[in-house]
Amino acid sequence: MKILRFLAVLPLFALSHAAHADKLRLPADAPPAFQAECASCHLAFPPQLLAADDWKRIMVSLDKHYGDNASLDAKTRVILEDFLLKYAGDARKVGVGGTAPRLTATPWFKRKHHEVPRTDWTHAKVKTPANCTACHTMAAEGSYREREIVMPNGRRWED
Ligand code: HEC
Ligand code: HEC
Repeated sequence: MKILRFLAVLPLFALSHAAHADKLRLPADAPPAFQAECASCHLAFPPQLLAADDWKRIMVSLDKHYGDNASLDAKTRVILEDFLLKYAGDARKVGVGGTAPRLTATPWFKRKHHEVPRTDWTHAKVKTPANCTACHTMAAEGSYREREIVMPNGRRWED
């Protein structure tokens, strides 16, 4: 009986666990090129925060990458695209990121950040919502826990 009851709550537990998105570590099989090529100008963004179609759109236009040139040799480009598509998020959960896709423009991102005041986004230390590490002090390690958040004016999000 006890075991049966345990099994019954298991799916629920898995669900609530997945909904808690404070851990977004890079998958262990991330190719070294991902850090080398996609984390030199900004954080290596978690692949699960954009849907596959959005990643494809980004990876076919790396020469015109948000005002920068992030071109890769063909082989590396394929390796990185395969990796991003393998771990891409579910479009029904994250939504889509626009014509020049941004994970910071998805409904998921906006929902998670709806309590963040406008003045924090425009703060000189932040500049762009894509600057995750400006607030998430452990973002480079893939951790987004509330108690690690320090807002640009120095206040902790959670005390
Ligand atoms: C030469 C510098 C450079 C390199 C290399 C680079 N990026 Fe970017 N990336 C940028 C800039 C600049 C932005 C725009 C930042 C802003 O204004 O918000 C950006 C934005 C992004 C965004 C959208 C961020 C958002 O607002 O949601 C994604 C996704 C992204 N880059 C993925 C990648 C991937 C994947 C790679 C590796 C294939 C890569 N970038 C390599 C400079 C670079
Ligand atoms: C201006 C500061 C700021 C920036 C920049 C920022 N965030 Fe956040 N983020 C927050 C705050 C504050 C919260 C908590 C909001 C709340 O609890 O209502 C949050 C919440 C989150 C959560 C949810 C954590 C949980 O426990 O469910 C994730 C994931 C996240 N952010 C990822 C990112 C990523 C990825 C980036 C960069 C692309 C980013 N954030 C940029 C301030 C920021």
